Amino acid sequence: MKHYTSINDIENINSWIDEAKEIKANPLANKELGKNKTLGLLFFNSSLRTRLSTQKAALNLGMDPIVMNVSGDAWGIEFGDGTVMNGNTAEHIKEAAAVVSQYCDIIAVRAFPSLTDKEKDESEQILNSFVEFASVPIISMESATGHPLQGLTDAITISENATKKKPKVVLSWAPHVKTLPHAVANSFTQAMQKMDVEFVIANPEGYNLSKEISKDTPIYHNQEEAFKDADFVYTKNWSSYETYGQLLEVNENWTITKDKIGDAKFMHCLPVRRNVVVEDAVLDSDSSLVIKQANNRTYAAQLVLKKILENN
Ligand code: CP
Repeated sequence: MKHYTSINDIENINSWIDEAKEIKANPLANKELGKNKTLGLLFFNSSLRTRLSTQKAALNLGMDPIVMNVSGDAWGIEFGDGTVMNGNTAEHIKEAAAVVSQYCDIIAVRAFPSLTDKEKDESEQILNSFVEFASVPIISMESATGHPLQGLTDAITISENATKKKPKVVLSWAPHVKTLPHAVANSFTQAMQKMDVEFVIANPEGYNLSKEISKDTPIYHNQEEAFKDADFVYTKNWSSYETYGQLLEVNENWTITKDKIGDAKFMHCLPVRRNVVVEDAVLDSDSSLVIKQANNRTYAAQLVLKKILENN
């Protein structure tokens, strides 16, 4: 594996989960592997977990992480080919990616979608430009359409907390005040499709994910029906895919409550808006895995860095 930009880069999710658990049991075992190697973390968007857990993962491997808030601190980057750069952008990605490659052995990039132009978002212009113009491996720290470090984390967390061989896992849409990307839901769906779980998606009419992602996963528009016998309820808001990037009116209440999920474990990638997405009683209960899940971000990132360091 040269780059890690999608859940599809995982060849065998069960062996990856086993290796992540080994790393978690002994996180400093490969402290020499990344010695004298630099990880560059480039953020076009905000972050708490990804920013800190990926640095922690690099430090556990003996790497030196360097971080830049590209949107706030760097020159405005131009991605268009052949553009006459007489506007706001001062530096082309061709130079920027080549230059950063001289300072870093691996580059990790976070770049969210616009949610206004489906075709442009799906082209993954920023992430793919780094893949094209950098000379070192690229890791996605969440792009327009995927969050593969989060999806890997979620697979590890479900494996650790499952109490039966084939648990039922529900990905449920929940309300939000803003329009949010599909990336987390997409990568979670792709990860669950690779695992031996009974996986279903629950979302209101008009909120189906891309068919390219959901494939033949059952989709329920009735949350109660979907939650029947669930072992894990993974919750996330996303904006409409069909009416791209829009917040559609939803008449039923899709907020996650203790009554609705019963004995199922609750998961969310965080950050989460309390009492909008999920009520306090769920987050403050023993059913919530969100803190354990966030801890696993370090080991998912460490596994990906380890594999790239070993293969390049
Ligand atoms: N889950 C997640 O990616 O968190 P951050 O946006 O804080 O990095």
